[in-house]
Amino acid sequence: MSEAVTQPVLELRDVAKSFGSVTALRAGTLVVEPGSIHALVGENGAGKSTLVKIVAGVYQRDAGTFRFQGHDADFATTAAAKDAGIAVIYQEPTLFPDLSVTENIFMGRQPLTTGRRIDRTAMYAEAEQLFARLGVQLDPRRMALGLSIADQQIIEIAKAISLDASLLIMDEPTAALSGNEVERLFGVARSLRDEGRALVFISHRFDEVFALCDTVTVMRDGSYVSTDRIEDTSVTEIVSRMVGREVSELFPKTPARIGDVVLDVEGLTTAGVFRQVTFQVRSGEIVGLAGLVGAGRSEIARAVFGVDRYDAGTVRLLGRDVPPHEPRSSIRAGMAFVPEDRRQQGLVTEGSVARNITGVIRSGLARAGLLTSRAENAAAVPWARRLEVKTGALDMHAATMSGGNQQKVVIAKWLATNPRLLIIDEPTRGIDVGTKAEVHRLLSELAGQGMAILMISSELPEVLGMADRVLVVREGEITADLDRADATPESVMTAATRSDPAA
Ligand SMILES: Nc1ncnc2c1ncn2[C@@H]1O[C@H](COP(=O)(O)OP(=O)(O)OP(=O)(O)O)[C@@H](O)[C@H]1O
Ligand SMILES: [Mg+2]
Repeated sequence: MSEAVTQPVLELRDVAKSFGSVTALRAGTLVVEPGSIHALVGENGAGKSTLVKIVAGVYQRDAGTFRFQGHDADFATTAAAKDAGIAVIYQEPTLFPDLSVTENIFMGRQPLTTGRRIDRTAMYAEAEQLFARLGVQLDPRRMALGLSIADQQIIEIAKAISLDASLLIMDEPTAALSGNEVERLFGVARSLRDEGRALVFISHRFDEVFALCDTVTVMRDGSYVSTDRIEDTSVTEIVSRMVGREVSELFPKTPARIGDVVLDVEGLTTAGVFRQVTFQVRSGEIVGLAGLVGAGRSEIARAVFGVDRYDAGTVRLLGRDVPPHEPRSSIRAGMAFVPEDRRQQGLVTEGSVARNITGVIRSGLARAGLLTSRAENAAAVPWARRLEVKTGALDMHAATMSGGNQQKVVIAKWLATNPRLLIIDEPTRGIDVGTKAEVHRLLSELAGQGMAILMISSELPEVLGMADRVLVVREGEITADLDRADATPESVMTAATRSDPAA
């Protein structure tokens, strides 16, 4: 093999970035070759997203070198980075809901006719070609409103391809995707790599990193740790570099004493979403809701808690009817709900971390109608510590925390209410490997103290590891109720997927 001297597409060395007194990035280094899929991993708050935002022109670095395509780069705006050929897919896509998917793809650079009008025919034709190439069946004329996250991401990718980006960065793109959708995304990523483009992939899921990437860079505390070819390293090695210690990904479940029925759901039905859902959760019991993304698990949870309405059925907590569609009554009755989409539904990002954590219990904390910030902090600290919320201070604004740390704050907020029933949707999504086992230990311990827990998780090892009983949901119906001993990857997957693939 001849010594091919390839020039890196992206070259960041010792890049630093601070926000006031917070150092988000100390010495970030990332060198990405063309025709490569490069993983960027690190604990929550390690500085991954900050690094990406410097590349994307969202932030400007304080120090260090930044070269793109062999030239010194310094993007003052995101538009400048885009023009240079950099596309970024953030965890939450940023489409305009009222525009068609095609208009979203060509936003700001629509093809024009000779009469300088927008050439819609050309635009839709090109969108159709892009979708065909990506292997997706989407109507180019439909509005972006109501698209699934997976489809929204495909639109972002189509945008990147139509821009002819030479560097595509994906910041935790798979967090909300089902197995098939992940496969589709990976297929697209590989074909872009084969065309010689460079990709950066950020994920907390190591199976995906090893399945997709050829190179991996590890960051810790805002600094570069290592870069390796994927075949020269291992999960254990990466994890120990990320956290600087040995960790286990799953906490072994401690057996709990299962007591009386806490949650009793009967015949819950919402037309077109779920049908005749009946189950119970007992004190001390962790019940896992398994199934494919889109099977209706989150919808069931949202209806039980009262965020969504339902057409028929009853929800009882500790023997009493819980009125439908009244989350306040549910909280008063002893329910807590950690939603799947924590950024949109769970976090009051305006306030401080302490304020966010104590948000639900605030009324209880107020003495003589007055809530001191000291009382607020005192209540928040134990939970924040427990979940290793990394923040400069509890009076820091939650909006500026890293994605994973925001997730932890939402969990802390609900645990601080000391509920009888905890409904938790994707407990460890976006949470790093070092804290994952801590979340599992916490759930196990809470169950040990008699809390009833209903847990939704798309990660099978998590469900099988944590749950005393697994309910499998398929197309809005419970298709299996498996005891811990009978719940295996095979039995769950069989119940979760159609046995007769009516293709
Ligand atoms: N705008 C900002 N103002 C203040 N601090 C910030 C800001 N943006 C990021 N930070 C801080 O910088 C650190 C790094 O955050 P970053 O979002 O880069 O982490 P990350 O590696 O992407 O983590 P995660 O895996 O949780 O997404 C965090 O401590 C975060 O609170
Ligand atoms: Mg991040």
